Amino acid sequence: MALEIFTIYVLVECIWLILPAYAANGLVPLVKGRRRLDFGRNFTDGRPLLGPGKTIEGLLAGCAIGAIIALIQQLAFPYLPWGISDRPLNIAPMTPLLGFLLGFGAMAGDAAGSFLKRRLGLERGKPAPLLDQDDFIAGALLSASLLVAVRLEWAILLLVLTPVIHFAACIIGYLLKVKKEPW
Ligand code: CTP
Ligand code: MG
Repeated sequence: MALEIFTIYVLVECIWLILPAYAANGLVPLVKGRRRLDFGRNFTDGRPLLGPGKTIEGLLAGCAIGAIIALIQQLAFPYLPWGISDRPLNIAPMTPLLGFLLGFGAMAGDAAGSFLKRRLGLERGKPAPLLDQDDFIAGALLSASLLVAVRLEWAILLLVLTPVIHFAACIIGYLLKVKKEPW
C-alpha cells in the first residue's frame, strides 16, 4: 500500500505531536538569554561553535514551554471533537514528559543547525533556507521517538510543510508591510 502523506488525517496527527516544539521554537526569541550555550568557545576552524544566538536560558525555556503546552494538550484532549473524523486517528498520548522531550529536541536540533551554519561560515542570524526551518523539527522528532512511535508520514509532512508555512507567512507579512523583506 502506498504511503498516504498529504491527507487531513496525517496533518492533524502530526500537528498534535509537534505543537510543543512549534511553541518552543516560536517563543524562545522572547527570552533574552545571555549565557551562551557554547560558553563563547570557537571550533577548530576559528569560528564560534554555535554563536551568540544559542543560550542556556533559551534551552531551559524551550524545555519548559514544551512541557507546558503538552500539559494543556493533555488536559484539552477529552474535550476535542476527535469523533468528527471518519477514521480513527493515531493521536500520540501527550504528556508533559513528551512535551519536555519535544522542547528539548527542538532546541538541540536548532543548535545543531547553528553548528552547521557556523561551519559554513554563516554568521548568527544569516538565513540558511530549509535548514533554519527544519532543524528543530528533526531534533524534536528524534527526541520524541524515545517515547512514542513517530510515523514516517508525520516526519515527511512536517519537514515539507514547515518551510512552506514559514515562507508563506513571510510573504504575507511583506504584503501587509509588517516586514521589510519578503523572507
Ligand atoms: N534563542 C536562545 N537560545 C536558544 C535558541 C534560541 O536564546 N537555545 C533565541 C536567541 O535570541 C536567537 C533567537 O532565539 O537569536 C532566534 O533563534 P534562531 O533564529 O535559531 O537564532 P539566530 O539568532 O538566527 O542564530 P543562528 O544563525 O545561529 O540560527
Ligand atoms: Mg535564525
